[in-house]
Amino acid sequence: MTIEEEIQSRRTFGIISHPDAGKTTLTEKLLLFGGAIHAAGAIKAKKSNRYATSDFMEIEKQRGISVATSVMGFTYKNIKINLLDTPGHKDFSEDTYRTLTAVDSTIMVIDSVKGVETQTHKLMEVCRMRNTPIITFINKCDRLGKDPINLIDEIEDKLQLSVCPITWPIGMGNHFKGVYNLKTKSILLFSNKKNNEDPIIIKNIDSKQAIDSIGELDINKLKDDIELITGIYPNLNKKEYLSATTSPLFFGSALNNFGVKELLNEFIELAPIPQPRQTEQRMINPEETKFSGFIFKIHANMDPKHRDRIAFLRICSGKFERNKKYFHVRLNKSLKFSAPTAFMAHEKSIIETAYPGDIIGLHDTGNLKIGDSLTQGEPLKFKGIPNFSPEIFKYVINEDPLKSKKLNKGIEHLCEEGVAQRFTSMLGKRKIIGVVGILQFEVIEYRLKNEYNATCRFEDVNYIKAVWITSENKEKLETFIQNNKNKIALDSDDQLVYLSETQWSLDREIKENPSIKFRFSSDL
Ligand code: G4P
Repeated sequence: MTIEEEIQSRRTFGIISHPDAGKTTLTEKLLLFGGAIHAAGAIKAKKSNRYATSDFMEIEKQRGISVATSVMGFTYKNIKINLLDTPGHKDFSEDTYRTLTAVDSTIMVIDSVKGVETQTHKLMEVCRMRNTPIITFINKCDRLGKDPINLIDEIEDKLQLSVCPITWPIGMGNHFKGVYNLKTKSILLFSNKKNNEDPIIIKNIDSKQAIDSIGELDINKLKDDIELITGIYPNLNKKEYLSATTSPLFFGSALNNFGVKELLNEFIELAPIPQPRQTEQRMINPEETKFSGFIFKIHANMDPKHRDRIAFLRICSGKFERNKKYFHVRLNKSLKFSAPTAFMAHEKSIIETAYPGDIIGLHDTGNLKIGDSLTQGEPLKFKGIPNFSPEIFKYVINEDPLKSKKLNKGIEHLCEEGVAQRFTSMLGKRKIIGVVGILQFEVIEYRLKNEYNATCRFEDVNYIKAVWITSENKEKLETFIQNNKNKIALDSDDQLVYLSETQWSLDREIKENPSIKFRFSSDL
């Protein structure tokens, strides 16, 4: 195949949802269709249900299996699909955010009973940063959920995302009868007694079969709904979907395997192929012959005895080849990878070549960091692999002065891995750790002890947000720094950060200092 054909046949995406909306169940059903797993329960069994209970030991267990589920590759109708796992537990980590920088599109799962929830909102904001196209799947239609019109309103209001229904539910909960496909103008019948992989399809809504199966009352209601929906939402405009302003909307039940195949069929038709990527230097097109890619995730110390790490590389252009020397831009040196791995569902296998859209695992001994670019010689720096503004902060106190070197090394490694961010206060040069989810502190403490034999304690510090500050006006910036000395710090790349104590004071500073740019991620 030519490189263009390789690109055309790839789709790289992630599923976003609030915990419990059905992401794992949907993932599993998609993998079943792709033949990547053969029995339901395979992924589910690996997902720790207690994970949501704020038990950090579970995070450790989860880490063991999450390499396997980080990227799940499968082939469906000759399309190579790479599904990236966006770990979505109760407490967020930056990994979740950053994974979304490596996808070309997403499927958003919403629980029909609960509607739009907080993490749906947060993840949606991350998608918006890069205008990532979103397909919406309203799940659990077999349960008595919110009225579909209200769900649409919620998505449009809370997420500021317009939708375009492709399927429409017929009843809900105990009365869920199936969905109407507005595109093919046919009814797909739901059965709670059998696997719904290949549901009965009724092509004519006026047929006796339709009335017999659904009942006259529901058929009439459906006809009213169709009239209303098609009036408000005309046919899907693919351009609007690709520019992330409209989200095609599907209804179904992942658990019952209903509506999933329709979703997958539409997904491969609609979802974008590997897209061009912006670097600080220029736009990179996937078709370019020279290889380029970036690291978006590091998975370290699976075996504490060996400092082994797997770096996850998203290929952006050209062809990646095993054992070929590539240019590590940040370190200005050549690196060769003898055992790059691809992730086909659970199996890791060494690959010889990989193409744009693919995610490969690179074994690393400490050369690679999140955000690093690998190229065939050009000094490119990919944009959009940011650190996100943490919201919980603590001072790190070394408990054993003899082991401060170990502690520093451990913290540095964990920060490189994206577990947390480290800041150094301008006054007193104190080390501050910032995270997105509170559980991360327990993880850090545990991992420092187990992997680095270093003990530390955390002390509360009263900040609620870290915001990167820059300004064209050096004088104004300097005055701002002098006026806020106790709230200024440097991040691990020596970028200036303002640590705010309250939302109110942050809003006030933003308002009163128009010449200073306050950024909520290190990249944008
Ligand atoms: P998550 O990955 O987004 O956290 O969600 P997950 O798939 O684990 O689903 C959360 C719960 O919702 C699970 O129930 C799952 O079985 C259920 N679920 C998923 N899809 C549907 C659906 O279409 N209809 C209904 N009624 N339930 C659905 P659980 O009790 O937490 O787990 P389990 O004991 O069923 O494994």
